[in-house]
Amino acid sequence: MNILSIESSCDETAVAVVRDGREVLADCIASQVEIHRTYGGVVPEIASRKHIEAVYGLADAALDAAGVSRRELDAVAVTYAPGLIGAVLVGVNFAKAAALALDLPLIPVHHIRGHIAANYLAFPELSPPFLCLVVSGGHSLLVDVRDYTDLKILGSTRDDAAGECFDKVARVLGMPYPGGAALDRAAQAGREGTYALPVARVHGNDLDMSFSGLKTAALNLLHNAQQKGETVDIPSFCADFSRAVSDTLVPRTAEALRRTGRHKLAIAGGVAANARIRRDMEALCRARDVTLYAPPLRLCGDNAAMIGAQGYYEYLAGNLAGQDLNACATRSLEAPWHPA
Ligand code: KG4
Ligand code: ZN
Repeated sequence: MNILSIESSCDETAVAVVRDGREVLADCIASQVEIHRTYGGVVPEIASRKHIEAVYGLADAALDAAGVSRRELDAVAVTYAPGLIGAVLVGVNFAKAAALALDLPLIPVHHIRGHIAANYLAFPELSPPFLCLVVSGGHSLLVDVRDYTDLKILGSTRDDAAGECFDKVARVLGMPYPGGAALDRAAQAGREGTYALPVARVHGNDLDMSFSGLKTAALNLLHNAQQKGETVDIPSFCADFSRAVSDTLVPRTAEALRRTGRHKLAIAGGVAANARIRRDMEALCRARDVTLYAPPLRLCGDNAAMIGAQGYYEYLAGNLAGQDLNACATRSLEAPWHPA
């Protein structure tokens, strides 16, 4: 089954062709990062306009690259939630038009379910149930993937997402948006244990996370040093900061593994590209006899192939939309699909 998939929830326009949820025939991405960098973050109005400019040409390019004609497509899948509403709408409207014109089923896909499904592309042998740690620019979640379309959130961030925290600190360090990857690179040359940064404890659900205290402490440390004219050892600061984020994630992931009894852990989302987090998750899994699934870096960030992968399983579950499909800015990944 060939699925044309579209992703436009933030600042990457992406179109892919995916076969049977597992095989990527084409995966095209037009990133807007350079444009938004001028403003230090994503400007929603600009994002929507750039998606409109890019999506048509990208769809043609994806079909060309896949060697698949329009007639050989079996369905169209699209991110319908969550994201910047104007940006998501562009993809949704394009997908609706394509499904109507080609007389194909239309599959609505939750963006975070897509991030999790990136693992199906990287690991053909992976199937639910498994535990997944999702860490992206907008979300930090521990998810029990009971089945392809039956997901249960075990823990989530109470405030900022891990990626948001990386980006804010990187911005103050003068790194270009989005700074998570640059901060990660800088950390490689650092010496850990130089700067004391807090790891938050959360009352109530002990699988929930909090990153805003760490963010504030990190920013205060940098501002205080600046005011006093002290120099900060940037690589070591980045190493300690990355460690503090990872130290928030590791014990909660360990506890979630214990509670669910899962023997498979997948990681997903842009922050899953972080070297320190990957190393720590490897160590955790080794110690617990758990198999770790860490997708290659290009599948961690936003892409449309992951939407095609999840779209296949949503299709098998009968989760289809009509021409009344609407975009949603916020929606839980647990929520079953129903017409908006
Ligand atoms: O999943 P994603 O591409 O977009 C969202 O759905 O949010 O994640 C983007 C986030 C950004 O905050 C970016 O700075 C962060 O992932 N990121 C990283 C790394 N690579 C990307 N954060 C830490 N270390 C990295 N290596
Ligand atoms: Zn994403």
